[in-house]
Formats: sequence, structure tokens, C-alpha cells
Amino acid sequence: MSGPQSLTAHLSQQNQKDLLRFITCGSVDDGKSTLIGRMLYDSQLLFEDHLASLKRDSAKFGTAGSELDLALLVDGLAAEREQGITIDVAYRFFATGKRKFIVADTPGHEQYTRNMVTGASTATLAVLLIDARKGVLTQTRRHSFLVALMGLRHVVLAINKMDLVDYAQDRFEAIVADYRAFATELGFAGVTAIPVSALTGANVTVPAAEMPWYAGPALLPHLETVAVEADPSAGAFRFPIQWVNRPHQDFRGYCGTVAGGTVRVGDAVAVEPGGRTTRVARIVTMDGERETARAGDAITLVLADQVEASRGTVIVHPDTRPEVADQFAAQLVWMSDQPLYTGRKYWLQAGPRAVAAQVTEIKHAIDVNTLARLPAKHLSLNEIAVCNLALDQAIPFDPYRDNHRTGGFILIDRITNATVGCGMLSFALRRSANVRWQHTEVDKHARAVLNGHRPCVLWFTGLSGSGKSTIANALERRLHAHGCHTYLLDGDNLRHGLNRNLGFTVDDRVENIRRVAECARLFVDAGLIVLVSVISPFRAERKMARELLEPGEFIEIFVDTPLGVCEARDVKGLYRKARAGQLKNFTGIDSPYEVPEAPDLTLSTQDQTPDALAAQVVEVLEARQLLTTPDPTAA
Ligand code: ADX
Repeated sequence: MSGPQSLTAHLSQQNQKDLLRFITCGSVDDGKSTLIGRMLYDSQLLFEDHLASLKRDSAKFGTAGSELDLALLVDGLAAEREQGITIDVAYRFFATGKRKFIVADTPGHEQYTRNMVTGASTATLAVLLIDARKGVLTQTRRHSFLVALMGLRHVVLAINKMDLVDYAQDRFEAIVADYRAFATELGFAGVTAIPVSALTGANVTVPAAEMPWYAGPALLPHLETVAVEADPSAGAFRFPIQWVNRPHQDFRGYCGTVAGGTVRVGDAVAVEPGGRTTRVARIVTMDGERETARAGDAITLVLADQVEASRGTVIVHPDTRPEVADQFAAQLVWMSDQPLYTGRKYWLQAGPRAVAAQVTEIKHAIDVNTLARLPAKHLSLNEIAVCNLALDQAIPFDPYRDNHRTGGFILIDRITNATVGCGMLSFALRRSANVRWQHTEVDKHARAVLNGHRPCVLWFTGLSGSGKSTIANALERRLHAHGCHTYLLDGDNLRHGLNRNLGFTVDDRVENIRRVAECARLFVDAGLIVLVSVISPFRAERKMARELLEPGEFIEIFVDTPLGVCEARDVKGLYRKARAGQLKNFTGIDSPYEVPEAPDLTLSTQDQTPDALAAQVVEVLEARQLLTTPDPTAA
């Protein structure tokens, strides 16, 4: 191939072919990289410069003597080469006369579960490698489970290193029988077993003379022809709006990628949530106007009527609407070094839409090696669990098994913005569907007018012994004397009743703050100035507490007493116990305290009396006009 002419011809030819995305699962020892390298090499897809560097590297790092070490072709990163393992997800594109392929290559070890899940999430078929000498191993079961979890329905068992078992048919058949016995419960639509030798190339691209007993196709021809998925355009039409294009008054287009089914100009459509209906007026694409579009197409839809449809809403056909819900059962894969805690809020991103969400319950975790159900209070890196989720807003969705795009989601940390998990929605929980918010005529505003001041939360955070409760106490005295209606929620006191069942693990502290914050919200609704005195060591939960209230109602006060000073005071003798190892998870000693980044007020207790510090808080309240009667006529 040379010159721009043939390149254009080549590209247009490539465009005609369909694309198979697959993942390879196995470990270095199984010969996974060699197998992929062999496919690329034998299908003659290597470019000259690649080959030159491969020859160089084979001599330097290779494990194949003077031969080309095909594994090096795939183990892309230099660091990986030197370690001799593959550590990340590598996507490689190649094409044969019949099909285009994207192969996701991920490491096989258990600590790379998240990488495998990531690789599998875009694939429709998995090639599972089995070493013919070893047969079905724990890792084969784990890989199969993960592949099934991600909704892949087609598996190729590449039983490798047949050359090392003398190409024995009975060995091959025993492994296949073993695998089938185990895999039945995973519900794959098709399992094809192929005996190969990645090293010699037997049955990789062409049938192997060494195994006349095997009548099936070689691996690559199988991948070229296997029918993998029911046509995604056969399902219900789903069009999540990515953005609204409104260049001028006369044009409003909804842009996005069709996530399922097909649509035609003239079709009746509904916008979910909300359910308003209209018709498709035009389908616009990069290449002009079209009559129809199908799953995978990037289009702009123009609707016949002006309906309110914003980013994240989904355009559907009125007779196949998705469910809309705010509570779900889901499967979750945790991908972060920071554990998942129930009750903590994360962003849940489903398609273009992000909503605040929390795991309300971990039903059980799953042992990826044995598939046993395990009890779990939180989830650590690579753990998989069945959970219940609650979202701050209802979203339209499909069960993941029906549509990976509208039923899959990721979880994002709200402080670091890192992707921390991914999940598959199973079904909606209807527990809140029949519970409505009851409107009351005497409301927060009416109570504030009667009280002669506005309600708010004064949230004191800081280490144990920092002086939170002492200042809060002095402040409440002042406010009370001033005629304000107050209440002090003190961490120690609440732990005698409402929070009696909670300890000091991270899980329990997250739940402790959730309850305290919900209480504070009720008391604010009751019209009170609520003083809260809890260590509340985590930013995420203080942010959650702030967001439960209206803007301006939450005042974060950081009682900034250094650890050394708190420890020297040691009023309750707890630091001494903690240092002596008699008290575990003590804040500042063996449990973290995350300093507030932008508190409304910072109090330094070393040079001022509690009363003087309380006076500072009163000043803030006065400056924000919280101590004056609100306008009775205002809404
Ligand atoms: S929080 O971390 O969940 O916000 P909270 O303010 O309710 O804690 O309770 C802290 C109080 O519990 C401390 O003031 C201290 O008296 C007591 N306590 C007992 N064990 C611990 C511990 N391991 N860490 C911190 N405080 C503890």
C-alpha cells in the first residue's frame, strides 16, 4: 500500500466492514500476548517500523531465543516489558479481509479486575485463554464470571500450548467438558473451544495439520465470521441527549448518539422523564439529512414541536418507554483505592447525565473466584457487590441486560472527580413510589417570622478535644440570652441514643454524620438555630450535610486546634488511651481528619476564650442578617 490514493481506497474499504470488539483474558503465562501478536503477525498487519523494533526488542528482552518474541508486540509499555507483565488495558485495532477488530488486552491477575471490567465493558466477545497443561483454573472461572457480569454472551475458549500436550484430543476434550460444566450457570449464548498453539501458530490463523481430529475453524477465521450480537438496532429506540444545539432562534437540534433501536423522520417520540410527545421532523448528520438512524449513529434530531428537553433526558418511542426511577438494585464493581461507604454521596453518571447518588445498602459482595456471597459493610478496590442505590433525582433507564448504554453507569468521587466504580442497573425499587412529600401550611418561613430570626446550622468540626462543644455551649448561651430559639446536637450526646449502635470505623462515622445532618435539617425546618458539634472528619460528609440545606443555611466552623494542643489538654483521657493502643481508630492518631478547605469561619482556640470565639460567631450571624426577623410577606 502506498500513496494517498491507495490509502483512501483502503480506508473506504475498511469502512464497509463490520467491527468486532473483543477482549482477551488470561495471564502472561497462558501466552495471551503471544496469541494476539501471532494474530497480528500472521494476518500481516505489522508495519515496517514495528517489525524493526520488534526484532531489536526480541533480542534484548525476548523469551523466544533468536525467534521474534511476538508477546513484545503487544506488551506495549516499556515498563511492562521490563517487568514482563501487562498492566493496563491496551486497545489494538486490526483488520482482515472480512472484519475489523478492536481487541482489549488486560492483565489477568485478580488485582487487575477493574482493568478487565473496563476492557470488557466495550466488548461483545471474550477470548479466554487456557493453558492445555493446566486446564480450567480459578482464574478461568474469575475471568468467565467478570465477562458474564459485564454482559458478554459469547466466549471463545482458546486452549493454548497444545504443542506441549502432544496435540492430544482427549486432553482438549476433558478441558472443554470441565469448562462447560462450570459455565452453564453464567448464561453464555455461545462457547466455542479451539485448540491452538500461539507459539507455533497452530490453529491461530490457519487450520493445524497437527490436529486432524479438530474439525472446527481456526481462531482468526472464527472471529472473522462469528455472529455475536442480536442487532442493537432491534431493541427499543433510545436517544440520550448529549447537548442541545441552538445556534439561532429558528433551529433547535438535539445531539447525541442513538443508544438503541432505530428512528425515522415522522416517528412519534416521547421525552423522558416527563413523557411529553411530539414527532421527529428531521434527522441531521455530519453528511447531511437522513430518513433513518440506528444504534451507534451520531445524529442531531429536530422535533416538530417545542418540547422541553435538556441534556440527559432521553428521546424514545411512546410505546416502548423506559422506566423512570430513583432507587435501584444494581451490580457494582469498585475501582478505587478509597473504599466505597454506604451513605456517602457520589456522582452517578449514566450516559450524559450525572446525578448525586448513594449506596443505601450492600446486599452482599461476591467472591470473584468462588462466586460465594459475602457480607460486606464497605467495598474495597476490585470488590464486586449487589447493592441498592438511591439517587437524588429520578432517571430513565433500562436494565443493563436489555441495553448496556442506558443501563450502565459509572460512579465519580465528588471531591476528586475520579471515576471510582462502575455498575449495571438491574431493576427499579419501588419502595418510595407511593410515598409523597406532605405539604404543611405552617412552614419554615412562618416559624422564622414567629421566632424573630432565621434558622440555620452552625456546624462545628475539629479534632476531639479541640473545643467544639465548649464554644458551642458558650454560643448557645449567648443566642438564648438574645432570645433565639436554639438546639445543640452534640456528637457525644447523640451517640447515647439515636447513634448508640455506631462506633468509630469509617463506615460508622459516615452513617453518624448522615443521621446528624438529617436531624439538623429537621431542626432547621422547625425554625431553630442548630448548633452541631461533631468531629465530622470527612469532607465528603460535610459537603453532603451542606447540600441537605438551602444556600446560606449551613455555616461551617472549623475549630482549628492543632493535634498537639488537643492531646496536651486530653480532657477525656482518650488520647492517652489511643497512644497506648487501648483505643482504635482515634481521630488524629490512627484515623484521618480532613481539614476543611473553605470553612465559613475558622476559630483558633489557643489565644482566645470560648466566649470571645462565640462572640465571633454571633458577628457572622449578624452580618448575614440571620438574627433579624425575616420579611413576613416574603415567600
Ligand atoms: S465523628 O467522627 O463520627 O464525627 P463524633 O463527634 O460523633 O465523631 O464523636 C466523637 C467523640 O466520641 C469524641 O469527642 C470522643 O469523646 C469520643 N470517641 C470515642 N472513641 C473515639 C474515636 N475512636 N475517635 C474519635 N472520637 C472518639
